[in-house]
Amino acid sequence: MVDDSRITGFYKLSREERVKKLKEVTGLSDEELEPLVDPGMVDMGVLDHMIENVVGSMTLPLGIATNFLINGKDYLIPMAIEEPSVVAAASNAARMARDHGGFTATDTGPNMIAQIQTINVLDPESAKLKIMEVKEDLLAFANEQDPILVRFGGGAKDLRVRIFDSKVGVMLVTEIIVDTRDAMGANAVNTMAEALAPRIERITGGRVILRILSNLAEFRLVRSRATFDKELLGGEEVVNDIIAAWAFAEADPYRCATHNKGIMNGIDAVVIATGNDFRAIESGAHSYAAMNGYSSLTKYEKSQEGHLVGSIEIPMAVGLVGGATKVHPAARASVKILGVKTATELGHVIASVGLAQNLAALRALASEGIQKGHMALHARNVAATAGARGDLVDIIAEKLVKEKNVKVERAKELLEEIQR
Ligand code: MEV
Repeated sequence: MVDDSRITGFYKLSREERVKKLKEVTGLSDEELEPLVDPGMVDMGVLDHMIENVVGSMTLPLGIATNFLINGKDYLIPMAIEEPSVVAAASNAARMARDHGGFTATDTGPNMIAQIQTINVLDPESAKLKIMEVKEDLLAFANEQDPILVRFGGGAKDLRVRIFDSKVGVMLVTEIIVDTRDAMGANAVNTMAEALAPRIERITGGRVILRILSNLAEFRLVRSRATFDKELLGGEEVVNDIIAAWAFAEADPYRCATHNKGIMNGIDAVVIATGNDFRAIESGAHSYAAMNGYSSLTKYEKSQEGHLVGSIEIPMAVGLVGGATKVHPAARASVKILGVKTATELGHVIASVGLAQNLAALRALASEGIQKGHMALHARNVAATAGARGDLVDIIAEKLVKEKNVKVERAKELLEEIQR
């Protein structure tokens, strides 16, 4: 946990200076940050046991987003992503929400769904009722599979049965809703579904085939909202145009795909940094967005004072225990930087980053377009690579852009000229 996530000029520092600053504000030790700061320090033995046929590792740049205030708490946010501008854009959007209280996030609790598919059921409606009659027994039996989860307050909480037609005839699908606490929960719910299957077969007289979680985690939602300052956004017209840009996404799936992709830029970057399953999050996000015709995961409106109020609602099956989050040393370091205590708190952070990312993209698209910002950031990186520090980064970057010659060699020449 950090006292203040506003670190002005963080981008102007050298990488070494940023690491020093990060240590200073988070209070984390060299040892704790090492696997993140120096990927070469990650033990290949650990990676070798994570998947099969390991020969090496693939590193991504990891940046820290600043300025995030979520439910009254400041966060520095590790983001692992190959795309330029994403970290800067998230930090910038978070800054625009700070004076209005930052982000307010809530959730439905960490409830996952597991599905048990049954075919060849002769009388599906009465089979459904028979299952519901022994619902409590089935839930109790599911919970016997994971006493530790139950001890932590989690476990199977509810059960529903859905009947629908399919290409191979009528299907009866029994779904258990399991509170998986701080785990992503795939192992827990799959174990429960497999254990329940023979009982479902006995009750229904049918044949069970699949027993697996659903990534459409509609009972594991997080929501976040924030008010973005109209002056910082660029005035009333920009606010109106951002709302029009969002309405475009709501009306048109071609635009909506890109709009939601921008949200996932931020979300995936934090999910990856914390060692969580980004395919599960992607699948959950897009299937949730498609529940009533593919639509935006965010919404926008104007406050009475003319500020922009944005919100997001998204399934968020992330965990803090188990999986790569616990095993991968760099993911452990990211979780420490975040200072989150529960998977749900991590979900609040991730959803807020998604909203910030979307707002930043819409603001750029609805005003000067995204290329200008990309070029300015690229020029800053080039200036820093050439050795510029502090205010010289911006001075040289500006000259490079004006000259339309964003090259390290030219940045070095300019630096020498100024220093002379
Ligand atoms: C690029 O990675 C993401 C954007 O295309 C998102 C959007 O168009 O909203 C800028």
